[in-house]
Amino acid sequence: MNRLGILLSGRGSNFLAIADSIAAGKIPNTEIAVVISNKPYAPGIEAAEKRGLNAHVIQSKGLSRAEHDAAIVTCLREHRVDLVCLAGYMRLISSTFLEAFPNRVLNIHPSLLPAFPGLDAQRQALEYGVQISGCTVHFVDENLDHGVIVLQRSVSVLPDDDEHNLSTRILEQEHIAYSEAIRMVLSGEYEIRERRYVKN
Ligand code: GRF
Repeated sequence: MNRLGILLSGRGSNFLAIADSIAAGKIPNTEIAVVISNKPYAPGIEAAEKRGLNAHVIQSKGLSRAEHDAAIVTCLREHRVDLVCLAGYMRLISSTFLEAFPNRVLNIHPSLLPAFPGLDAQRQALEYGVQISGCTVHFVDENLDHGVIVLQRSVSVLPDDDEHNLSTRILEQEHIAYSEAIRMVLSGEYEIRERRYVKN
């Protein structure tokens, strides 16, 4: 059984979409081993508790990044996690964390990277005037929103779009993309050549 560890800080809709995909058999042979939030009362962690999943709050407040990441790695190891999925986790990951899970940490970002990394990607896309945006699932490396791309899905920007409308349509695609990317990575049927995810 593949064991996922989900890290989140807020709403948790991507986490719920992953949980629903697993329940629907779309990510075979996989379970959510643990959900961790750095924020108490995050709706995502409350939803995890309601679903009866292992749910932990590990607050970053008052800890150095190294201390906080060490506590998270310990928790992930205790739950024998194979693949870590950042799902609206609003913290940078240290290299020590990445060394504990080499090529085993995924993130989802609401733009077609490398365009518009960082916060408010949908607003950045609107302000720039792009006509196509979307979402990207990528491996996490030391740099923000930068690692090898596993999967992207595009979304047209419509003339009347505001940040809310565009974010909503991108989010629908995120919910499809993340589960599909997790399935692809867990299948093991790929190699990474330079920066390219290549299916075997
Ligand atoms: C998503 O837009 C995701 O791409 C970004 O943060 C947001 C998290 O939303 N990294 P949710 O908590 O999964 O609903």
